[in-house]
Amino acid sequence: MPSIDVGGVRMAYSDRGAGPVLLLVHGFPLDHTMWDGVARRLEDRCRVISPDLRGYGASSLGDVDADGGVPMHRYADDLAGLLDALRIDGPVVYAGFSMGGYIGWQFFRRRRDRVRALAAIDTRAAADDEQTRNMRLHVARHVMEWGAERVAEAMLPKLFSADALRDRADLVERTVAVISGADPRAIAAAQIGMAARPDMRGLLPTIDVPAAVIVGEDDAISTPAEMRAMADAMPNARYTEVAGAGHMAPVEEPAAVAEALAALVL
Ligand code: MLT
Repeated sequence: MPSIDVGGVRMAYSDRGAGPVLLLVHGFPLDHTMWDGVARRLEDRCRVISPDLRGYGASSLGDVDADGGVPMHRYADDLAGLLDALRIDGPVVYAGFSMGGYIGWQFFRRRRDRVRALAAIDTRAAADDEQTRNMRLHVARHVMEWGAERVAEAMLPKLFSADALRDRADLVERTVAVISGADPRAIAAAQIGMAARPDMRGLLPTIDVPAAVIVGEDDAISTPAEMRAMADAMPNARYTEVAGAGHMAPVEEPAAVAEALAALVL
């Protein structure tokens, strides 16, 4: 897997296919492999770039902010830096899953010139409530002693649909392995960054590029009701609910997610 220096961070990325660029940004605390099924279905139609965010997969963490966190806008700047480093000059289709979606709002806000179309997948625009924020800071404080396995255990019931948890051991085990292998320092950094993220609902009416809002019908983290409201607030968004999928819709039902993305790419 190739990697490239982006402002002192060694960023690893998968790069397949040719043509218009589709940037697939993974969620927390995952890596680019969550996109394998989606990328495979689109790489004959476009150039699919799926990086590992700093600290995840094969990418280095680099430095973190004084509070130990990496705010969403820093991940966004890393992605713009990656495009620069790869000499991709034109705007791209940005598709972000969950934390990748939180980063997407910042990417759009800071680098509107870089966005041809935007997909928000199983994600949220609102900030956390106090309970969630406190939970994130608690995890950030303790994950070094707990280890990432405990994070995987705690997250699992909310990630997949009940059907997938029962019948798709292959998908579930692969995801547990990725989370369990994550660097606890990167987990803490992202939790602190996510806890501090602002309410971005005010940005939604300004997202005038073609957009897709995609959600698993059983998503317990970013619910269909919340995501439909997001789509309604965006001037140019198409809403897709993926039947039978939970939060991890791109992993559970990659064909449906790829089809919704293809409409933006072509
Ligand atoms: C993710 O999938 O990226 C996380 O569930 C996001 C979050 O913790 O809010």
